[in-house]
Amino acid sequence: MGVKETTELQGGAADFINQIAVLLRTAQIHSMNNHAFVSLIDKFVSSAAELLINEKTLALELRGEYFYLNDFRVRYSPECVMNFDFLLREFRKAELGSVIIKPGLVPEDMKTFIRVFIASSFLQRPFDSMKGELSSLPGLEIRKIRNVSEENADLDIKKLVRKTYFSAVSYTKGIFHSVRSGEKVNLKKAKRVVASLVDRLVEQEQLLLGMTVIKDYDEYTYYHSANVSILSVALGHKLGLNRAMLIELGMVAIFHDIGKIEVPHEILNKPGSLNDNEWGVMKKHPQWGVRSLLKMRNLDDLTVKASIVAFEHHVNFNLSGYPKLKNPSATDLFSRIVTVADKYDAMTSARVYSKVPISQDKALSIMMETTGKEIDPLIFKFFVNMIGVYPIGTLVMLDTNEIGIVYENNHLFLSRPRVMIISDNRGDLTKGRVTDLMEKDGNDAYVRTIIKAMNLKQFNINLADYFL
Ligand SMILES: [Fe+2]
Ligand SMILES: [Fe+2]
Repeated sequence: MGVKETTELQGGAADFINQIAVLLRTAQIHSMNNHAFVSLIDKFVSSAAELLINEKTLALELRGEYFYLNDFRVRYSPECVMNFDFLLREFRKAELGSVIIKPGLVPEDMKTFIRVFIASSFLQRPFDSMKGELSSLPGLEIRKIRNVSEENADLDIKKLVRKTYFSAVSYTKGIFHSVRSGEKVNLKKAKRVVASLVDRLVEQEQLLLGMTVIKDYDEYTYYHSANVSILSVALGHKLGLNRAMLIELGMVAIFHDIGKIEVPHEILNKPGSLNDNEWGVMKKHPQWGVRSLLKMRNLDDLTVKASIVAFEHHVNFNLSGYPKLKNPSATDLFSRIVTVADKYDAMTSARVYSKVPISQDKALSIMMETTGKEIDPLIFKFFVNMIGVYPIGTLVMLDTNEIGIVYENNHLFLSRPRVMIISDNRGDLTKGRVTDLMEKDGNDAYVRTIIKAMNLKQFNINLADYFL
């Protein structure tokens, strides 16, 4: 193989992967006889034939996080990251390690491959069933994924995410205690905790977001502060902030309610609603937050930023909230991000003064009404895309009469997340199998579809039981 051919292969490789990803996706939404799908298949077969002029076969292999075409690592370009990631997940789901295309490939072979590929990922032993169905195709061969400890790795990641979450909560608790007793807070450790939070989020966004459904009634403020930090960082990530900014954002978000330390316990934990007087005190927590922050720290950059967010997080996008500003000006970007995360987490938590939390999807629609007034409409748009139409933790009724909990979102098809089934069609509780709402049956129809979201409280379900 000469140098020229090698470059040609590399140039074609990204396109090769893109085409397979598009084929899969198209087949998932449309029927296999759809005109668009048929012409995509033809296009794929002819571009494969072109590459096969200089190559004996085309072997697309998944190794770890990367695809290799005939042993060359395929470069990720920003335009195709979505397709690459999508295909990577689909390969893993089907335990598929490589696809080898041979010179005799005809459109019908490719069509069979796509059909079998989609169907397999919902079966118990996806690769074996796929292998059986494809064994007679002359133009195409598949091999199993090499990483046998995938499942263990999955478990390890879950453990790591859990550990990150709880260290954020316990660290927050530590900060509040130090501030309460007038000690200096060690920000070096805070930076470490938040940096690992940021890294976990970038790798495992859905898993870590899933943890934020955990709310603790007695230790509300600590869990709330950690959740707001996680949601803010995830949102900042979606908005394109770099790692250093995300760490800063995560840190200042932890401190947003630090002023509540000075709100008397009877008011903070009062059962029932607050009277005007008590609300007046509660509304002081932004100013008190600034005071605490300035007391505990020297006036450095981070303290200033944390103070701004503590002061502004209830001011609202149109400045209609509190405190009232003497010289009205737009609020800081970090404040606007934290405000969205804060409102969402507060609404979806049960607190002393509102025993029944609002369901996640309801919270989103209530927040939707306040865009442009209380919250920044653009930031909220990114938030909805991140959280999904049915956020993680939403209890949903399916058209199969099963009941499930949204487990992981699908950013391309917001209404088709992965769902953990917790009650079967007879109403009996089940073990919590996770199923993908993208799954289709033999007639190309979706197996399960969400009919509606339901109120968690009615069913007496503790989300933490399912996410821990
Ligand atoms: Fe607050
Ligand atoms: Fe808050």
